[in-house]
Amino acid sequence: MARVFIISNRVALPNAGVQPGGLEVALKATLRKHSCVWLGWSGEVGETPQTRRIDRGDNSYVVSDLCTADFEEYYNGFANRVLWPVLHYRLDLAEFSRRDLSGYLRVNARFADELARLLQPDDLVWVHDYHLFPLARALRGRGFANPIGFFLHIPMPPPEILAALPNHENLIPALSDYDLVGFQTDGDAANFARYLAKELGMPSHMSLRLGSGERAMRIGAFPVGIETRRFTRMAERAVRTSLVDEVLRSIPGALMIGVDRMDYSKGIPQRLEAYERFLAAYPQWHGKITFLQITPKSRSQIPEYSDIQQAVNATAGRINGTYATASWTPVRYVNRPYSRTALSGLYRASRVGLVTPMRDGMNLVAKEYVAAQDPDDPGVLVLSRFAGAAAEMPEALLVNPYDPEAVGAAIARAMEMPLEERRRRHAALYAALLRNDIGKWGDRFLTALKGDRPKPGSHAGAALLNDLLAAPRTAAPKPH
Ligand code: G6P
Repeated sequence: MARVFIISNRVALPNAGVQPGGLEVALKATLRKHSCVWLGWSGEVGETPQTRRIDRGDNSYVVSDLCTADFEEYYNGFANRVLWPVLHYRLDLAEFSRRDLSGYLRVNARFADELARLLQPDDLVWVHDYHLFPLARALRGRGFANPIGFFLHIPMPPPEILAALPNHENLIPALSDYDLVGFQTDGDAANFARYLAKELGMPSHMSLRLGSGERAMRIGAFPVGIETRRFTRMAERAVRTSLVDEVLRSIPGALMIGVDRMDYSKGIPQRLEAYERFLAAYPQWHGKITFLQITPKSRSQIPEYSDIQQAVNATAGRINGTYATASWTPVRYVNRPYSRTALSGLYRASRVGLVTPMRDGMNLVAKEYVAAQDPDDPGVLVLSRFAGAAAEMPEALLVNPYDPEAVGAAIARAMEMPLEERRRRHAALYAALLRNDIGKWGDRFLTALKGDRPKPGSHAGAALLNDLLAAPRTAAPKPH
């Protein structure tokens, strides 16, 4: 079997502790099943950038430092101050500069050079996320004809938004140098298909002439899942640890939990506001619920991220200032990261999981919260309809995060929900998690990349543009 080259900005090095984002979860099974080389940024910034290689079993990890200019222009700049807000439908927060764009292209070219040194003709290349849109173009320019796939972990907005991205007319069509472009949901794939049709007038058979040969780019939805049963087992053990015990003993009544990186896309201030509305509207729950919001800091050198941190501090302080008593603190707001094991125990101990991003590619916290529950006495997931996960989780209490009163009412409903209904919803959600277990995700993508056609009606297969344009399916429940 050919080697699989994985390229992403962050690399989850073996034994590196708590990792940001869901990349590590998504790629774990692929790393176990294939001989992989994973390339990317080391997470270090230095004036004399070094490259290190770590070999572990059948896999290798090759990571390079960024110099300060790369870090500023490529990572903080174009990736996180332009692409991240635009792809999360936040044009108002995008700050474009040509300097950042050229830093972004420069780092992509550097990753392509590093790959070029290692790649053999039969290797598969799998590129991840918005940091690396132009990587296939850079590799094709260096003469590589390998199968190259791309997976976008975050949302793909409609063409009406994407077209406001400066230089979109070069950047987005560069994705056509991939053989397969994967998205989290059918809605994202359909948005991309609409962009191609609208902006490029691309014919529906999607054949693009490249050099002397002809290649077809395919697009499809490959929703990321989790290792469901393994996570359940982890939670069963972790709920008995002293951390969970101490938390539960220190609060009166039930626990409600939210876990997110500090990011405006996650809707943390809006969520706190919804909780505030809940406390105002349902005084019977005072002293009987504690909201634990765990929010590790993220991208703190970007001004929008420090702004959001201040907004969260202020709202949490206001709620506690209004409602706290000597024996009850309504909000516990924690800025440090916890291991997934610790989180799994806290999820299992929580009566409500509050996952209310304003926009999210998938959101694995929603899936892990469900996987962690005790099926005999499960908690209730309150989930934003704007998280990719909502498409697979219609039995959660789906909410509009822009409507704090409705989210407050959903919290009340979750707290009051009878055991029978909680069990029924949990069983359906758990079955959906098993159907789309992460063990199969990488295989589906790599099989599609190698060119095998998906079965008709397969949820996670590659689709042709005209299929997506004819039947864009959004966040609706769907039989598998
Ligand atoms: C999201 C992105 C990932 C990213 C992660 C953490 O999950 O999809 O690509 O790694 O956020 O963000 P950071 O900027 O810390 O890598």
